[in-house]
Amino acid sequence: MLLKLILQHIYSRGGRAVCCDSQLVLLVYYSFSGKTARVAKLIAGYIPCDTEQIITVSSYPLNRVLIHRILARLGPRHRPVILRPRHKVSNYGTVIIGMPVWNNGIPNPMLSFLESVDWRGIRVYPFFTSGGLYVNALSQLQNTCKGAGITDPLYIIFDSDGNITDVRE
Ligand SMILES: Cc1cc2nc3c(=O)[nH]c(=O)nc-3n(C[C@H](O)[C@H](O)[C@H](O)COP(=O)(O)O)c2cc1C
Repeated sequence: MLLKLILQHIYSRGGRAVCCDSQLVLLVYYSFSGKTARVAKLIAGYIPCDTEQIITVSSYPLNRVLIHRILARLGPRHRPVILRPRHKVSNYGTVIIGMPVWNNGIPNPMLSFLESVDWRGIRVYPFFTSGGLYVNALSQLQNTCKGAGITDPLYIIFDSDGNITDVRE
């Protein structure tokens, strides 16, 4: 069901090329607790693409209260060091980007990656996983990936048990 919605979403936005040329598609994702990774693996199982997982050099505590406290202390400009990506975005025409929503926007580790790339001329298909609050996610992506052609995101909503409760366009 979820895969069907994702594919419909991509196809309905002129994404035919996404499935046609495996050389041209990169799927980049960051996942803190595994939900975005689940969705990314589902997509990668269907769309021929290279995949790149964004991994921080130092990990955050899994405890929800602690991570919120740490992020609040580090502030919005916090950009953690990430492992050097294996793929270069400039070699691809299309990039699928998946991430959880953190504090209504883009998680800091994904910002570390996004800000290191020249997005001009790249077609971007974003998807966000969240608990349902994502008011700044798209505008932050647009401000960060300057020059990219960004399609409307797919928002995949999870409950606290890790079940998908909604998929919104
Ligand atoms: C630091 C932090 C901040 C979060 N902020 C939000 C938020 O603003 N809105 C929301 O709906 N969910 C928020 N969540 C929940 C995650 O977006 C959601 O659980 C997501 O699906 C997790 O994906 P992941 O398992 O790939 O990390 C937050 C989670 C964390 C850890």
